[in-house]
Amino acid sequence: MKNSLVITAAVLIIGAITPAVAASASDAAALYSSKCSICHGADGKGATAAGKALGIHDYHAPEVQTKDDSELQATIGKGKNKMPSFAGKLTDEQIQALATYVKELGKK
Ligand code: HEC
Repeated sequence: MKNSLVITAAVLIIGAITPAVAASASDAAALYSSKCSICHGADGKGATAAGKALGIHDYHAPEVQTKDDSELQATIGKGKNKMPSFAGKLTDEQIQALATYVKELGKK
């Protein structure tokens, strides 16, 4: 009896967590379009007015595609030259998800 209660509780908890994990890819897309696309462009090519003025690299370029996720995360978190820092504005999980999203965008 006690065991079945524990199992029921575990199933409920896992059920509550799973949708949050599944949502993270679309969260990254939503975050990207609200916070990043103004400079980097929806397609990641940086062909925006701000992107051209700031000298943004196209995410499709080898200098971005050859960076590993930790380097991309560091740039997003700490900023770099004219890239603003997002630490404090985004959680580590959001920064990780965005680094993955940026790489994926650059492969399209
Ligand atoms: C104000 C304009 C601006 C905004 C907003 C912005 N960036 Fe950037 N970003 C830049 C610039 C400029 C660089 C190039 C930095 C450099 O290497 O000199 C850059 C570089 C990067 C890089 C490294 C790619 C490379 O060139 O090696 C990543 C990854 C990145 N941005 C992700 C993001 C993400 C994710 C967001 C949204 C959370 C974001 N950026 C928002 C301007 C911006």
